Amino acid sequence: MRTGVLDLVELRTVLGSGEGPFAEDFRYELGWVELQPDPHHPDADRFFEVLEDGTEVARLHLEWRSDFVRHWVGVPRLAPSTVRIQLIEVAAGHRGRGLGRAVADRVRADHVGHRVIALSMDGAEGFWETLGWDRFEHVTGRGFAPLFVSPAV
Ligand SMILES: CC(C)(COP(=O)(O)OP(=O)(O)OC[C@H]1O[C@@H](n2cnc3c(N)ncnc32)[C@H](O)[C@@H]1OP(=O)(O)O)[C@@H](O)C(=O)NCCC(=O)NCCS
Repeated sequence: MRTGVLDLVELRTVLGSGEGPFAEDFRYELGWVELQPDPHHPDADRFFEVLEDGTEVARLHLEWRSDFVRHWVGVPRLAPSTVRIQLIEVAAGHRGRGLGRAVADRVRADHVGHRVIALSMDGAEGFWETLGWDRFEHVTGRGFAPLFVSPAV
């Protein structure tokens, strides 16, 4: 599948302003407008809009907090600088064209030498599996999202 030229444009936020990085856009189902950086860890979150040939087609929230993975069984040792795809959504009308894969691949390419992790939302497990990411289950078994880890490069 071919996509157009993709650009990840980082959105800036002003801590304490009450303003999140994303504006309302009815092509998205997830709560992007409620997102705020964590004032206690101002460097832990980064927000991006994904442009395809200049038009926004997806949104991305990356996070640098990975110590929680110890609660998922068998996860390999990860560097403290491991990046997590906290949230990714392709806009309605643009899904199924390879954009989700292209964005995940871009995040990996931007963090060469590190594995990338993601907790899957309900219904998205097949997406991460199709990408070939390794799947791990929470120690308690049911009720928690599976954790996906990109293959070692
Ligand atoms: C999940 C999502 C990001 C995938 O993006 P997309 O651009 O539609 O996916 P792609 O076209 O890149 O698909 C890549 C591959 O994953 C598969 N795939 C995509 N979504 C899938 C799903 N929900 N279940 C199973 N497989 C899926 C595709 O069939 C494709 O397989 P192929 O390469 O063998 O043809 C998108 O559907 C979305 O935004 N969903 C709503 C929000 C969401 O669930 N986000 C995930 C947060 S963890």
